[in-house]
Amino acid sequence: MAQLWGGRFTKETDKLVYNFNASISFDQKFFHQDIRGSKAHVTMLAKAGILTDEEKKQIIACLDTIVNDVENGTLSITDEYEDIHSFVEANLIDRIGDVGKKLHTGRSRNDQVALDMKLYVRDELEEVQDLLKNLLTELHKLMKENTETYMPGFTHLQKAQPVTFAHHIGAYMEMFKRDYDRTLDIYDRMNYCPLGAGALAGTTYPLDRNMTAELLDFYGPTLNSMDSVSDRDYVIETLSCFATIMMHLSRFSEEIIIWNSNEYQFVELDDAYSTGSSIMPQKKNPDIAELVRGKTGRVYGALTSILTTMKGIPLAYNKDMQEDKELTFDAIDTVKGCLALFTGMISSMKLNKPAMEKSAMNGFTNATDAADYLVNNGVPFRDAHGIIGQLVLYCIDNDKSLMELSLEEYQAISPVFKEDIYDAISLEACVSKRNTIGAPGKEAIQKTIEINENFLNNI
Ligand code: ARG
Repeated sequence: MAQLWGGRFTKETDKLVYNFNASISFDQKFFHQDIRGSKAHVTMLAKAGILTDEEKKQIIACLDTIVNDVENGTLSITDEYEDIHSFVEANLIDRIGDVGKKLHTGRSRNDQVALDMKLYVRDELEEVQDLLKNLLTELHKLMKENTETYMPGFTHLQKAQPVTFAHHIGAYMEMFKRDYDRTLDIYDRMNYCPLGAGALAGTTYPLDRNMTAELLDFYGPTLNSMDSVSDRDYVIETLSCFATIMMHLSRFSEEIIIWNSNEYQFVELDDAYSTGSSIMPQKKNPDIAELVRGKTGRVYGALTSILTTMKGIPLAYNKDMQEDKELTFDAIDTVKGCLALFTGMISSMKLNKPAMEKSAMNGFTNATDAADYLVNNGVPFRDAHGIIGQLVLYCIDNDKSLMELSLEEYQAISPVFKEDIYDAISLEACVSKRNTIGAPGKEAIQKTIEINENFLNNI
């Protein structure tokens, strides 16, 4: 058991207590961030005259050998150390003796861990941005290819009005664009460096916090040393953003599962993204979409957990905060995995355009347009609604669609109907007339696609 703080203790820590307290099993995940922070700290200490240049060089060179040895497997991170900070410092001292003991001058594990976690979350946020960009690029492609792929739009999971596949996908495009923007907002708000805050009250050494902030690519140092060591808002914001991403992926997965079902057959998932059944030979199941939907709960759980952990913590650092890591790491890995797999799944799935179109033609998705036809011919909307309602009932009784009624059948209910009713309620007409901003009509969707293209070119 290698501990940094044995001095004032007369007894060994109880083994169970040691294990309960230790974090090395999970905080080794930010080993590289810890090294980066230490290098910046040491560089600044030398510049401020607190360490000599020679000492700085020795420490940095030794930190590099530790990284190399861990990477090539000659040094392993074991639970003999309490946490990753202790592991690095103990190995440094092992290798270069007294000089190694100077690394922690003017630093506490409290500002060190605050920095490591922030660096880690910041790095991962950037990876999630890249994955979101890949997904958005794929969705954009699908939109461009499907401005005339008709399908039913639903409310209450009942057919409502015809839309296009481009339009439906465009809804998800908006959601993931907002998610992308959220990651930028979080980045901007979190990007201040806590290093130099010490345990809670700064230090008496003349640390140059602007310098370490700059070396670590932060906008600047954090402003209050007590807040610096006990702020985990950025973890909460990140998990909230990730929970939202998962909620969007989960809704989308649910739709893909429905579209891929035997009853709908709007899409067919690629074999590489489907699985079979051990007993039913005919099965091809959408497990990836189901898993994405299912894993959403883990990310929500991580958000609930950190919110609850933080709510009762008095200033400044308390050990409760060590609980910020495991579920956050899991949530980050989950979101990254789901984004990558989801993008692969939708880029390889086949669209069954005839099935979508056929489904859009049935189920009276053009009933609103038939009512609008009457309105355009002078009938007040409420009356038009009633007339079309009667027609729909007639169609249901006679197992016909509105398109299949004869003009005589139309005119038996209202003389306002003329031959041009058929053009007015064709799928193409229903969609192409909808050209208000954000609607599925050709001109409107083209404008949206241009805006999206611009968005993608600027991220
Ligand atoms: N493993 C600890 C954590 O993750 C590091 C900070 C320890 N600080 C302390 N005062 N015990 O929070």
